[in-house]
Amino acid sequence: MQITSFKQYEEDYKKSVENPEQFWGEVAQNFQWRKPWFKVLSWNFNEPNIKWFEGAKLNITENCLDRHLATNGDKPAIVWEPNNPEEESVTYTYKMLHERVCRFANVLKRNGAKKGDRICIYMPMVPELAIAVLACARIGAVHSVIFGGFSAKSIADRINDSQCKVVITADGSYRGNKQIPLKEVIDDALIGCPTVEKCIVLTHIRTPVSMLKGRDVWWEDEVKHVNDICEAEEMDAEDMLFILYTSGSTGKPKGVVHTCGGYMVYAGYTFSNVFNYQPGEVYFCTADIGWITGHSYIIYGPLSQGATSVLFEGIPTYPTPSRFWDIVEKHKVNTLYTAPTAIRSLMSYGEEPLKDKDLSSIRVLGSVGEPINEEAWHWFDEKIGRGKAPIVDTWWQTETGGIMISPIATVTPTKPSFATLPLPGIQPILVDENGNEIEGNGVMGNLCIKFPWPGMLRTTYGDHERCKQTYFSTYENLYFTGDGCLRDEDGYYRITGRVDDVLNVSGHRIGTAEVENAINMHAGVVESAVVGYPHDVKGQGIYAFVIYPEMHGEAELSKKDILQTVTRVIGAIAKPDKILFVSGLPKTRSGKIMRRILRKIAEGDTSNLGDTSTLLDPGIVEEIIEATKKL
Ligand code: WTA
Repeated sequence: MQITSFKQYEEDYKKSVENPEQFWGEVAQNFQWRKPWFKVLSWNFNEPNIKWFEGAKLNITENCLDRHLATNGDKPAIVWEPNNPEEESVTYTYKMLHERVCRFANVLKRNGAKKGDRICIYMPMVPELAIAVLACARIGAVHSVIFGGFSAKSIADRINDSQCKVVITADGSYRGNKQIPLKEVIDDALIGCPTVEKCIVLTHIRTPVSMLKGRDVWWEDEVKHVNDICEAEEMDAEDMLFILYTSGSTGKPKGVVHTCGGYMVYAGYTFSNVFNYQPGEVYFCTADIGWITGHSYIIYGPLSQGATSVLFEGIPTYPTPSRFWDIVEKHKVNTLYTAPTAIRSLMSYGEEPLKDKDLSSIRVLGSVGEPINEEAWHWFDEKIGRGKAPIVDTWWQTETGGIMISPIATVTPTKPSFATLPLPGIQPILVDENGNEIEGNGVMGNLCIKFPWPGMLRTTYGDHERCKQTYFSTYENLYFTGDGCLRDEDGYYRITGRVDDVLNVSGHRIGTAEVENAINMHAGVVESAVVGYPHDVKGQGIYAFVIYPEMHGEAELSKKDILQTVTRVIGAIAKPDKILFVSGLPKTRSGKIMRRILRKIAEGDTSNLGDTSTLLDPGIVEEIIEATKKL
């Protein structure tokens, strides 16, 4: 299933479009099924209703663990690098990981979890997080991993939306020199979560935690009560594998649903191809498992291919900005998959952190999560890849399950700041506002996908209509990505950024409406409008225009109060970078906020604000521009 030449890429691509069922049917033969499918694909984008490998039975953990035991049982599956470099790293072979996953799967059963139950996971980047995820999949429970940066309220909303029965967490986590009391956050969340019956707590930083009798149990105690034999649950290809919440243009995050069969095939196929993974190589993805990148390209993709996946607990700048390079040297990393924001941040320290670091093991580099600017691309290429490692700029989304548009390392060409060409099976199209296809090259438009692929979302949890409205209703018969895109003269794709009200801050997706809701919850705030603006390191920063007529004391203090409220309501990742107090917002006569104008102001480009004559109060624009000068 691995593509080895450009010619083969072209042939496979052609076949995947002309005969998608045959193409994916053949790819799927590379996985282990308990029972084959009777139909590769049935679909329509109107309902939407998408089924891949109908009738097939499998368990994804048999593909990620059991099938490697006979020949590769002693091969490292996960290499864990702790936050503190003085601490020992830990290697789990496939045999060990299999044993731990089975044992913890039995712990889940012992605590009442069964097939179909939803389980919330809120954990640090430790091997037990991967074990918890795989243990859920082993017994057919649906995992919903929540990123460690979200607040108690965000967690409670997510737990309640999917009625989770069990929560798996840890006492706390380390992030650089900070400690985060995860269990305390969970305790606050669980006050409002009536469906949660059990909470399993891993000891990690050994900070004091409250343990409620009857509800809370220690991971370490529980594993002593069970053995390590756990037959994998037989799952239908279209049974739910996991839910992952993500932000959209409305205030409420959606639970994107992925199913077992198609997701497995897509994550495995794209991992093997995009990174050109070779047996024995060490692969390091720096994402957090709380996001889709961690799901698909730390856990499921690499493990399904028998790869060695590095799992790093810490941050790129702790204890020094050499940390990534130390890890590369120490574990002889062959593939480094990271985010533009990390690259830009490390770039800003100059070359000193790279001095005397042996990066010669690096063969392939990858980028994900946001557009990579040319400067960062070239730095990555020259300083880290030494001009010899292809950079795969991988475009995809939580909803797509896996990489969609990207170079294939060593096989297809790269081009700075371009995601380049669609992978086999992916049919991108550009459309104009009215949904008309924009043909030819050297054009720009909204990026849609016109044919299903195995890794695509099936629904949004508990609200299928929302899935339809968000992704399949903007343009008839097309999946709409929410991204703008350029197709250049050579037919290469370059993602230009979101065209909806979604921000991409340090590669994290945040809805402007969500941030506005959070700010508006602050006592005294009358209204707010949030837009993105270009930020040197984060890609986009969050700019909030806030109406707050009667504040107590200094404005600076009130800003901090607002940040505190946003941290409580969403989490620190959604804190605005800039807050500007204003007396009004530019609105149309029908009351709609003119974000276009605010975006221009936030960008510092006030030369051409377009037509402001339709505004209810055109004077407000001048006032806001004046105020920004004092910020
Ligand atoms: C953006 C992350 C440009 C895009 C895997 C998309 C990118 C959103 C790229 C999805 C890329 C992701 N170049 N933009 N290579 N990769 N994006 O769901 O706007 O967290 O819609 O998935 O990130 O973010 P998400």
